[in-house]
Amino acid sequence: MIGRLNHVAIAVPDLEAGIAVYRNTLGARVTSPEAIPEHGVTVVFVELPNTKVELLEPLGEGSPIAGYLEKNPAGGIHHICYEVDDIIVARDRLMEDGARVLGNGEPKIGAHGKPVLFLHPKDFCGTLVELEQV
Ligand code: CO
Repeated sequence: MIGRLNHVAIAVPDLEAGIAVYRNTLGARVTSPEAIPEHGVTVVFVELPNTKVELLEPLGEGSPIAGYLEKNPAGGIHHICYEVDDIIVARDRLMEDGARVLGNGEPKIGAHGKPVLFLHPKDFCGTLVELEQV
């Protein structure tokens, strides 16, 4: 059901510092910061030949990554994103299997302008999983 790895997301306490690590130290191409208020994050994408790394910094009150950064003050891997052809078909199949979808279960528009859903880490090997319809 899942397809390509779309991105790995890393939560960072300081986006400029994270950009410097990837752009200067690791020599990668990094996009300009984009604020996504409806997801409570500011994001950049590190563009690699075979996938992307997403750096996430909290934006506003109650950011969904604030709790993660409290437990991991230096930052860390926050979620991985897999591509699916049809997010509703994927969601319904996973829910039939007893998997928990976060939020109200309806896809939101993600950082790439495509529908996304998040799946509960306890049902997926301790990893927060994002599904993106491509
Ligand atoms: Co993501």
